[in-house]
Amino acid sequence: MAIRLGDTAPDFTADTTEGTITFHEWKRDSWAVLFSHPADYTPVCTTELGQVAKSKADFDARGVKVIGLSVDSVEDHQGWSADIADTQGIAPNFPMIADPDRTVAELYDMIHPNADNTLTVRSVFVVAPDNTVKLTLTYPASTGRNFDEILRVIDSLQLTANHKVATPANWTSGDNVIIVPALSDEEANEKFPNGWDEQRPYLRVVAQPS
Ligand code: BEZ
Repeated sequence: MAIRLGDTAPDFTADTTEGTITFHEWKRDSWAVLFSHPADYTPVCTTELGQVAKSKADFDARGVKVIGLSVDSVEDHQGWSADIADTQGIAPNFPMIADPDRTVAELYDMIHPNADNTLTVRSVFVVAPDNTVKLTLTYPASTGRNFDEILRVIDSLQLTANHKVATPANWTSGDNVIIVPALSDEEANEKFPNGWDEQRPYLRVVAQPS
């Protein structure tokens, strides 16, 4: 069944390149990114896993654990890691789930039979500390993902989880934000005593809270 925003991310136990992992236990009360890629020893996936490894410090800085998945074996993941290190300059530094029987892929609806009957699509799930799903993305096999965008969304999710704001189009951390419409002007005055730019009654722009 499709996983929707606000659902609890399904728990599972699986073999990975870092041993057997039970998802909820592994992530505990952290944020997590679970992402699938179609297959080992494939070109776009090779660049993606290299990029995630390069971005690991950025995920760490946000308190986000990263875990990959494909329907190949741990042995394949390990053999392929050496190719990733050679070609991308860095080996995967996060666990990669081996899912040859497609248990996790089916649990997370990562196989879209009209796209490909056996391989996973490029799914991304951002999961909050309370295990609720906050973001889902689905990309086709032919398009590598932009992991800077995933970091950008995490910045927004973490900000908006703590403040009564939303983030506008193309926002990046440090840019102005929007006061959520649910907050009355009276309530907004308490939270934003320095005021805001009221472009419309429903469009109140304010500096990013720290
Ligand atoms: C790739 O990672 O390059 C890829 C994987 C499966 C199908 C097409 C491309």
